[in-house]
Amino acid sequence: MARITAATVRADFNDLPAVLHYTRAAHGLGLWASERRLIERFFPDREAPLLEAGCGAGRVTLGLWQLGYRRLTAFDFAAELLDQARSLAAERGAESIRFLEADATRLGPMLAAAGVEPAAGALFPFNGLMQIPGREHRRRALTGLHAACRPGATLLFTTHDRDVSPQERALWRLEALRWSEGRQDPRLLEFGDRYFEDDTGRTFMHLPDRPEILADLAATGWEPVFDALRREVARESRAVREFSDECRFWVARRG
Ligand SMILES: C[S@@+](CC[C@H](N)C(=O)[O-])C[C@H]1O[C@@H](n2cnc3c(N)ncnc32)[C@H](O)[C@@H]1O
Repeated sequence: MARITAATVRADFNDLPAVLHYTRAAHGLGLWASERRLIERFFPDREAPLLEAGCGAGRVTLGLWQLGYRRLTAFDFAAELLDQARSLAAERGAESIRFLEADATRLGPMLAAAGVEPAAGALFPFNGLMQIPGREHRRRALTGLHAACRPGATLLFTTHDRDVSPQERALWRLEALRWSEGRQDPRLLEFGDRYFEDDTGRTFMHLPDRPEILADLAATGWEPVFDALRREVARESRAVREFSDECRFWVARRG
């Protein structure tokens, strides 16, 4: 069985169940309470140029627009989702949002070709960074965002956390045993990876622990300034909890 690659992930996001799922959320759900709280806290300047990675169908992008942010560039590598984001922006009179098709692990040439100005802030919401297979590729995305931002810029993203509960820790101990015996799913690249299918489509996700993310930030020029579980940031509606499970928010500053 072949290992998961970026092409697998892109095809999964361009597939109909995923497109429907993220388009519905962009139209009907909007920002989570926790996202809104942290965006308003860490991106106080509505005039600052912001870059959003993995914008999907525009759930967060249009949420930012609604909060008054006007200098927005948003990109994704899934063209079908990007089409949905563009049409939602047109529907909401937000045509000035710039949408680009780009891979987060090869950001430099795309931003240069499009003449995108250095950002004062970047976001990679709803675990998009963790959907990049391979730690070196995730680090490449963090390095690319670093290059796309001004010194002192803020980066906001989320991940899961393998240590979030005793149940999760027990599941990961079992998974560690599988890896030590070579019985893991052969499509996975690293311990912490998951690949599963449900009615929203197929999903690749890397679940890190906290030290892994701290090391990746340090290796790519980002200084951590805040992290917390979502439930510690805000109480979410049932609709948000049904759309997305618990995650850890990370905020870092560009060195
Ligand atoms: C969980 S979805 C979130 C979509 C949207 N931000 C939201 O919150 O509804 C993750 C997004 O990251 C995008 N993504 C994953 N890897 C990417 C990469 N290497 N380059 C660009 N986008 C990527 C996917 O296509 C997908 O749209």
